[in-house]
Amino acid sequence: MTEEKSVEKIIDESQQGSTLSLENNNNNGRKLYIESYGCQMNFSDSEIVASILAKEGFNTTQNLDDADLVLVNTCSIREKAEQTVRKRLEKFNAVKRTKPNMKVGVLGCMAERLKSKFLEEEKIVDMVVGPDAYKDLPNLIQEIDEGRNAVNVILSKDETYGDVAPVRLNSNGVSAFVSITRGCDNMCTFCVVPFTRGRERSRDPQSILEEVNDLWEKGFKEITLLGQNVDSYLWYGGGLKKDFDKATDMQKATSVNFAGLLELVAQAQPKMRIRFSTSNPQDMTLDVIETMAKYENICKYIHLPVQSGSNRILKAMNRLHTREEYFELIDNIKKIIPDCAISQDMITGFPTETEEDHKDTLSLMEYVKYDFGFMFAYSERPGTLAERKMEDDIPEDIKKRRLTEIIELQQTHSHYRTQQHLGKIEEVLIEGTSKKSVTHWMGRNSQNTVVVFPKEHYKVGDFVNVKINECTSATLIGEAIEYSKNN
Ligand code: SAH
Ligand code: F3S
Repeated sequence: MTEEKSVEKIIDESQQGSTLSLENNNNNGRKLYIESYGCQMNFSDSEIVASILAKEGFNTTQNLDDADLVLVNTCSIREKAEQTVRKRLEKFNAVKRTKPNMKVGVLGCMAERLKSKFLEEEKIVDMVVGPDAYKDLPNLIQEIDEGRNAVNVILSKDETYGDVAPVRLNSNGVSAFVSITRGCDNMCTFCVVPFTRGRERSRDPQSILEEVNDLWEKGFKEITLLGQNVDSYLWYGGGLKKDFDKATDMQKATSVNFAGLLELVAQAQPKMRIRFSTSNPQDMTLDVIETMAKYENICKYIHLPVQSGSNRILKAMNRLHTREEYFELIDNIKKIIPDCAISQDMITGFPTETEEDHKDTLSLMEYVKYDFGFMFAYSERPGTLAERKMEDDIPEDIKKRRLTEIIELQQTHSHYRTQQHLGKIEEVLIEGTSKKSVTHWMGRNSQNTVVVFPKEHYKVGDFVNVKINECTSATLIGEAIEYSKNN
């Protein structure tokens, strides 16, 4: 078992397993406890689930002992993620012994991967629901109420939950996630996502705009457009991305791609900060970068996973670009948006990875000097192409040693990047109190770097110009100068 490490987690580690609660409706008699693991999309999905169940008579609770229904939204991306969930199920089992009427449901990627096998493997589980089946929850809950187990792991061609008004749970009231695509068609050979989240489909831009406008009305100041591969966004009236060929001429002529969507959102709310995640190098086009440059409210930050710096490994991973093409993209980004921050995802110890390949990864990092990084040791996932066709042949100690090396290099680069901000005045959106000091605010600049500064008279949700005086490899420290013109 590999213990993954990363300089910065995709999700704050402290958020993993966090429970969600929303304003309670007094007419609701039953209590739902929901815990989420994994990527931001899962956290966003839990908000959809809570919204669907609020209409079914469930209020959320943060106290496991009060719960009538316990749901755990799971992640399958690495083996460790699945083991964490198994441990939580043991805990739920212990509670269930004293509360036999409590029901337990598993949602998300692990539910999709294991399907009804879950019910055999984990006897305490009553319900297994895949990521495209949440609208069926009312029926499934009726089944388990009547004493039967319930499973729905059907993947959909068109489900985007565009019509479910999501509730914002445990939110800071400032930044929110808006999902724009579901599924992934890329079939990277190491990755389980295409199997657990199905084929790629895009959400109606109209429903995205409505959600963004509604968030602005509610006082939110920043949104992140979410998808496994946002640059591949393509709306042509509904349906799978892969079926675009079969669309009518009219549908093709009126289709909206990612650059088009970004522009629509940027124009709809010119004071709202707009972020997006994740970009796939093979699908990121110049028009996206140009749109970012054109609108001040689109943040100058791109999460651009590369996974490896070796052409041979990129090919074996079925990443559909070369190292050279990646450099060309990086050069274009820096040319069009000189102050754009870029972050990576990297995997060490993919099958057959040699020292030479690893050195290619280090030299690629040296070229880009990423602002942040999320780095992992390869974890073989059942059912993926790599698992079926390749032996997991890199010993754990070598995977870990290489991981340590790339993490150390990333730390050097992160520090190099934070130093570039010293002495500058940058706009920061205040998200909340700094974790380390109650007298300081914490927020982010456009480049997504965390900035802390003394609170003075400013408040959460304010846009403030901050002079950057000091830095660590992860944080900028400064002082507020004035409200920014965006305020
Ligand atoms: N496109 C997605 C990627 C999802 S997985 C997104 O929206 O971020 C996030 C990261 O986990 C990947 O970029 C990859 O670096 C890592 N990862 C995926 N499968 C993995 C595996 N089998 N072993 C180790 N890391 C993995
Ligand atoms: Fe996974 Fe590659 Fe898609 S990492 S989510 S198959 S872009």
